[in-house]
Amino acid sequence: MKVTVSRKAHFNAAHRLYRKDWSDEQNNAIFGKCNNPNYHGHNYELIASVTGEIDQETGYVIDVKILKDIIKTEIEDAFDHKNLNLDVEEFKSLNPTAENIVIIIYNKLKAKLESNLELEVTLYETPRNFVTYSGK
Ligand code: NI
Repeated sequence: MKVTVSRKAHFNAAHRLYRKDWSDEQNNAIFGKCNNPNYHGHNYELIASVTGEIDQETGYVIDVKILKDIIKTEIEDAFDHKNLNLDVEEFKSLNPTAENIVIIIYNKLKAKLESNLELEVTLYETPRNFVTYSGK
């Protein structure tokens, strides 16, 4: 019997969507306002969902305090109040779209979880726009 345990978290960050190898015209055509050279910000919300068997001794799939601490260290401390393009190593050569951000978040969290636990991450870039990744 598997149960999913979820934790919500939040960070504010700035980004710019563009490719250095494209012309200004091409970047504007594809990325529009998101290509603003002076960057723009989002209030990102994320939901990390961990699925696994319930430990018979503790009754937990994962201690939510442990999940909370992993999200704090790996994601909030790394991304909150940062310029993703300039301050975060992973995005120096990777366009910080919601799709790419959710994969980076997934990989950082997955590396800190027990290997028998499954993970799914949903990232909200706006209240209406969100992406989900579960390692597939
Ligand atoms: Ni944006």
